[in-house]
Amino acid sequence: MLPLLALCLLSDVIGGQAASPATIQLQGRVAPHAATLRRRAQNPVTVNLTDYFLGTDLQWFGNLSIGTPLQNTLTVVFDTGSSSLEVASTLCGSACSNQAQFDPSNSSTFIDIGDGGTITFATGIGVDPVVGNNYQIALEGVSDTVAIGDLILEDAFFYLIKNQTAGFSLDPFSGIQGAFLHRLHTFTAHSSGSTVLFSMYLTPLSVGGAELTIGGIDTTKFRGDLIYAALPANTGPLWTLDSPQIFVNGKTSSTLTTKLNVIFDSGTSNVYAPVSSKPSTRLSAPTSSHTPLNPAPTAFPARVSPTCPQRISVAFTAQDGQPFNLTIPSSELSVGPFEDDSSVCQTLINAFDGLSVLGGSLLKHYYSVWDIENQRMGFAAL
Ligand SMILES: *[C@@H]1O[C@H](CO)[C@@H](O)[C@H](O)[C@H]1NC(C)=O
Ligand SMILES: *[C@@H]1O[C@H](CO)[C@@H](O)[C@H](O)[C@H]1NC(C)=O
Ligand SMILES: *[C@@H]1O[C@H](CO)[C@@H](O)[C@H](O)[C@H]1NC(C)=O
Ligand SMILES: *[C@@H]1O[C@H](CO)[C@@H](O)[C@H](O)[C@H]1NC(C)=O
Ligand SMILES: *[C@@H]1O[C@H](CO)[C@@H](O)[C@H](O)[C@H]1NC(C)=O
Repeated sequence: MLPLLALCLLSDVIGGQAASPATIQLQGRVAPHAATLRRRAQNPVTVNLTDYFLGTDLQWFGNLSIGTPLQNTLTVVFDTGSSSLEVASTLCGSACSNQAQFDPSNSSTFIDIGDGGTITFATGIGVDPVVGNNYQIALEGVSDTVAIGDLILEDAFFYLIKNQTAGFSLDPFSGIQGAFLHRLHTFTAHSSGSTVLFSMYLTPLSVGGAELTIGGIDTTKFRGDLIYAALPANTGPLWTLDSPQIFVNGKTSSTLTTKLNVIFDSGTSNVYAPVSSKPSTRLSAPTSSHTPLNPAPTAFPARVSPTCPQRISVAFTAQDGQPFNLTIPSSELSVGPFEDDSSVCQTLINAFDGLSVLGGSLLKHYYSVWDIENQRMGFAAL
């Protein structure tokens, strides 16, 4: 059994409103079977990604095919915050009616393994803010051939979605392919044909051309050198880096110089940060009697004036010992003032005690390299 963190949390953002997660649940799940690569790619494989945009860039998804013969209509989010592959199937029927579904009855290599339980998500995707653990998918553990580009994995273990909460049916993709930091799952097996790493170019919709490269780095997508930072020793399956401090609009404070273990999650749209216990030190925290979104989307431990521009730089240490910043520009964080109190701004930072997650709002400003072989992450500014 492998404890998996269901972190492919898809923040709800529409009309400049973001919902906070209530809890993130640990889920015991079955470890994947040993699968075999039928064709090992000598060259890296690039998957073009489509941006799911609802007021902001929410998710990037690309093609994945399953079965014999391969069913080519499926798309998945490539999610570094989860481990396994889950895909909508005909078992789900009308609950997944808006999504392309894998039809196991039409695959000669399909094997049904058994009930895979349910995953509860603290937040889903779509128009409604999600409060509580009310987003669920029910799963069936199965095995079949899975292909990403011309990488074909036989006897891959994955899950069919056999039921889901209505909110998920808005998704324009069929499922999620986890890309956790370990060598056993489908995604990592795919990258084992060459260097065991993958790279992400998660561009804003206005830029386009987003892509995932498995087993390589597309050097045409950035200028300058990649800066690499080593993953902490004995790191778990999450992609994390330690950050000694954070700068807000170029300034730091004692609250912001607390060491954070920051999770990088391509399946999270925005940013999650711990809530300061002192409202006065929050970034743009609601201070008046107006009604914020519930739970409030704002809160970040920083003392700044409640004006909209909020540029956040998260400091890290490179492998050569030099400090470097990864910066989320103001355009990602400020979604304008509250309707009923123009002196207070809403941010796309989700307040979340005890967890720091950098998602799409940061990743789309960098080319990122997720290097399993060398236990490090690389970043280059676009
Ligand atoms: C994804 O698959 C669809 C359906 O087979 C195909 O039309 C489309 O061109 C593919 N997209 C990419 C980027 O490969
Ligand atoms: C991916 O996108 C690039 C750039 O738009 C295009 O040249 C290429 O043909 C696409 N690949 C696939 C498989 O669709
Ligand atoms: C099932 O597979 C056959 C090819 O073996 C194909 O002609 C048919 O369209 C498929 N049906 C579905 C529903 O995918
Ligand atoms: C699917 O989920 C819905 C909502 O959670 C539930 O009401 C329904 O009974 C489930 N259906 C099946 C077949 O499990
Ligand atoms: C990181 O950003 C802060 C605030 O803008 C700046 O003072 C510091 O010099 C930056 N560090 C590096 C290594 O660029």
